[in-house]
Parts: sequence; C-alpha cells; structure tokens
Amino acid sequence: MKKILFLLLTSLTAFAQNNIIPAPVSYEVSTSGGMNMFMLDSRTSIDVTDNNPDAKRIAENFVSSLGFMGGQKPVFKKVEKPTMQDKVMIFTVNKTPNTQLGNEGYTLDVTGETIKMTANKPAGLFYAIQTLRQMMPPQAENKEFSMGMFPIMGCKIVDYPRFGWRGLMLDVSRHFFTKEEVKNYIDLMARYKLNTFHWHLADDNGWRIEIKSLPKLTEIGAWRVVRNGGFGNRDEPKEGEPATYGGFYTQEDVKEIVAFANERNVTIVPEIDVPGHSMAALAAYPELSTQKDLKRYVNPGTEFIDWDNKKLKTENTLDPSNEKVYEFLDKVFTEMAPLFPNKYIHMGGDECFHDFWEKDPNCQAFMKKNNLKDVHELQSYFVKRVEKIINKKGKVLIGWDEILEGGLAPNATVMSWRGMKWGIEATKQKHDVVMSPTTFAYLDYTQGDPSVEKPIYASLSLKKTYLFEPVPDSTDVKYILGGQGNLWTEQIQNYRHALYMTYPRAFAIAETTWSPKEKKDWDGFMARTENHFQRFDAGNLKISKAVYDAIITPTKDGEKLMCEMSNDLKGVDIFYTTDDSFPDKFSPKYTAPIEIPTGPVTLKVVTYRNGQPLGRMLSIPRVDLEKRVKK
Ligand code: ACM
Repeated sequence: MKKILFLLLTSLTAFAQNNIIPAPVSYEVSTSGGMNMFMLDSRTSIDVTDNNPDAKRIAENFVSSLGFMGGQKPVFKKVEKPTMQDKVMIFTVNKTPNTQLGNEGYTLDVTGETIKMTANKPAGLFYAIQTLRQMMPPQAENKEFSMGMFPIMGCKIVDYPRFGWRGLMLDVSRHFFTKEEVKNYIDLMARYKLNTFHWHLADDNGWRIEIKSLPKLTEIGAWRVVRNGGFGNRDEPKEGEPATYGGFYTQEDVKEIVAFANERNVTIVPEIDVPGHSMAALAAYPELSTQKDLKRYVNPGTEFIDWDNKKLKTENTLDPSNEKVYEFLDKVFTEMAPLFPNKYIHMGGDECFHDFWEKDPNCQAFMKKNNLKDVHELQSYFVKRVEKIINKKGKVLIGWDEILEGGLAPNATVMSWRGMKWGIEATKQKHDVVMSPTTFAYLDYTQGDPSVEKPIYASLSLKKTYLFEPVPDSTDVKYILGGQGNLWTEQIQNYRHALYMTYPRAFAIAETTWSPKEKKDWDGFMARTENHFQRFDAGNLKISKAVYDAIITPTKDGEKLMCEMSNDLKGVDIFYTTDDSFPDKFSPKYTAPIEIPTGPVTLKVVTYRNGQPLGRMLSIPRVDLEKRVKK
C-alpha cells in the first residue's frame, strides 16, 4: 500500500509538469470525464489495429520491457467497451497519412480507459512508446522494482521532429567498446528520439571493423600496447612489447548492431577517417603511406604531432598519389556498403597534416601532373576520388568540414565541427550540412570545474549545449539536415564514463534537434532533466550531475584576487570556506564576489537547495585560482 501511495504521489507531482525529453510539440493535460489516470497493469489489453506486423513488434517489445508485473503481462486482444478495469492500449498505423506527423511523428491520447497511439509509420509508434515510458514513474526503469501497476496521467500529445538528423557520434577507436555497450548506447539514445548513430570506426588508435579482403586491418590494426592515463603523453611501444589492448567488430557483429538499431529507428553512419588519422591502417599496410620505412604501430596515445606548430612527428596519413590507396579504400567500402543499409558513409577528412606530402617527390610529381596547385588541392583530389568510390557503392559521402578545403566534392554532405562557419559556407555552395560544432556539441569536453574534472581540450556546460541552435541566421534551412553531439574517447576508458560524458548533454542535443525552436526553455528543461536523473539512477546508469556544482570565476581587482560564484539552476545557495574546514550550510553564504585571502589558502565551495546538499564540494588552491584569471 505504501508503494502505491508513493507512486501516486510521484505521479501527482508529475501532473504539474510533463517530464518528456525532448519536449513534445504539443502537450495538453486531458481533463475529459472523471479520473484521468491510466493504470498500466497486467489487466491492460493491447490492440494492434489491422494486426500491422511492425506495430505488433513495437507493442511486443514494449510489453517485454515491462519488468514489474511478476510474470503476468498485458495480453493482445480487442476491447469493445473499454473501462477503467478493462482498459486497452491501441496501436494504429494510419491508413491515410496525417501530413503534420511526417515519418517520425505520432499522437498519444491517454484517458482512464485507453491509451491511443497513432502514427504514419512504425517509427512514430516507437516514439509514442518512448514518450509513454517517460510518463511512467522513474522506478519503472528498474526491472527489479516489482510493482503491479504504473499510473500514467491523462494527456493529449501531438509530436514530430524539427530535424531528420538527430545524431550522436561514438569514437570506438580511442577506446574500444564491446558490442553490448554499443547496443546499450544506441538503445539509450533512441529513448530520447535521437535517430542517427555516427560510428567512428577507424583512427590512429585502432581499426575496429572486419574487412575480409584486408585481414591485417584487424589482425594488426585493432590492437595496441596497454597504456593508461594522459592520452597524448603516453610512451610509444617498446621493442617486442605485445599489443594486447583493443578489439573489433566482425561483420556478423555489425549486422547484429545494425538490426538492433533499426528496431529503434536509428540509422548508423559508419566512419573510416582518412587520409589523416590513419596510423592503425598503416600499422597493417605501411605501403599505403609516403613513409614506407617508418617504425609502425597502432598509436597507444603517444604524441604524434607538435600541436602548437601543427608539425607531424610521425606520418599518419595515406599517400594520395598512390593508386594502391584507392584500391584499398575500394575494398573497404565494397565490404562496408552492404552492411549499412543507410544513405551515408563518412570518410573523416579532418586534421590531415600535409608535412610529408610537401616533401614527397611522388606527391609533388602527382600534383604537377594533375594541375594541383597545393596540398589542399591534393587533398581535395583525394576526397573527390573517395567520393566516386562511395557513390559507386550507392552511398553519399559525408566528411568533416576540412573536405571544403581545396574545393568540395560534387555531392558531398559536410559535418561542420570547427564552429558553424564551414557549415554556413557549405550551404552557400548548396551542399547539405550537419551542424556539430565544438562550441556546443563536443561531449568529450568536461562539464565540471577543473578541480574535479581534469580538463579535456575545453569545457562545455549543459547550459551551453542547450543553447545550441543548428540553423544560423541567414542560412538556408533546407540544407541543414540537423545536429549531432560527438563523444571522442581519448580520455574515456570505460563505458560508464562514456555515459557520464554523454548525459545529460545528449538531452540538450535531443531537444535542440527534435523540439520546436520556440519551445526552448532552460528552466523547464532542467526540471525535466532532474526527473531523468532519477530515471538514470533507477536504471543504474551513470549520468553527470555537474550542473549542481558551483561555477567559479576568479577575477583580479588591482592586486586583489576576487572570486565570483554562481550556478545555472534557480534557487541554489552557495557556501564557502577559505580556512581549510569543510563548508556546509552554516558556512559563509555567497552573495557577492569575495576577496580570496593571501597565503597558501584553499577555497572550498558547496551548493545547497532547500537546505539539502546538492553538488560536489570544490576545493581549489589559491594558486590555481590565480592561474585561471582571464588575462
Ligand atoms: C574532429 O573533431 N577532429 C572532427
């Protein structure tokens, strides 16, 4: 009884707001007739209109996701006169399409007697179910929580996406994620109506897909020596050291993952990053580079470039003047194309440094022969050749925005990462664009204060991610396919941390790419995000709550070191000490910038809300605050 009361209370709290992420296009609380709460329990029937087989599968998957009914599950049958006792969920694929809904939209209508879902395509019904799951209490995420019923508040929803490309990228080269982890990543993103999984399958640090005609790619290219910590500063392999860290996906694994994604309306865009980022491929086939005699290895996180001066220390690019390189890529894409039943293959194209091409006599002769005036045109030549190969396999080439340099390939789609300006330039050239700028969408950047999260390149708060707007003023929206968050994994060494880095910022990406622009509302988003913190906790999934921590901004006032403190949420109190004691709500409360005393002092800061501890304690020595002052 206590449990029922608890659940009713949780649901009644939910009544004041919906917790749906991304926010639906329209949501109305349903007020027609008596008590408008659908009690989902084992007496619920399921009715699939016209026995549509896709809708039936979606309904079955939903039923099997319900872990709380103690063996008894809803049964499939029609109910002529639904009542609060004899209730029914009805799944309908529209015979006459509702044009407003498009291919992914749905309607969801919940009363005490029925849950009616309609869509033009099965994808829409899948999304109706994701919404419905989010209307159940967070405890439903825990299959071990055995409860006979879950209340769902009455409502009417009409919902459809703003963009067709709602993406997340996972880098499986820098860290290898198992097949089950990749599936879990896809499963979670689909629950937030993200529909494009960009799978970064090859980079300097590992080649991850089986290519049967090029077996060394995975015999050699998928494995590197074991190294820990500080990616980029790691020791190179010692003579004879075994390469035991890594892994790859067999073609059977890929088929399984593609089928799994397809069930969740997720398209997979595979990436092979060339002509740069190719150390793993070159460890297997050194003859594909201009430097055939270099010591070759799959990079375990050794510095291969002087980043300040952008000078390669070792060659990591394919040789664009060598026909064998195109034969190699033809083999790779011949095997990959049929595995991925989507439109795109991503060829990378980013961060290709040309030092060795500049010096190589073959490259120089090749440029002369082909009237290529510089190495950018040489790279552009390479991209255009790769596009021809990819097009021949029936696919469209997509690449990072460097593919614009030296002239864009005729049919290419551009993924804009160095800000939005390259994306804007591509739209001017009438090319499709996916916006994925570092400034808003790089999920490898840290979310928390540098004292608790070792900085990775830069930081990116949840709030900044939420400000992402994929359509810059004055661009033609018809070329903007959508937006994407990218999780690079140089500094990510396990799956739970990958989740921590992805969520909740992926909620912001989901809402940006699905919900109408005018629905953006930070406070409302955060209220819903806090409900989803509970869902992740109930499901034993990791999620970052860095948004609860204080934001510390040191400044200088003459010789004085001052410190501003803030938080992105409403109603948060900040308390601090500078005397090495642990702050609590009885410590000094922050109200205005404070002066940090001189000496070997440490600032310690905590946050509270409604008298309850909220975020992590930050502990920052004065010397570090000094270093952070913006010059
Ligand atoms: C990239 O972040 N190098 C695309």
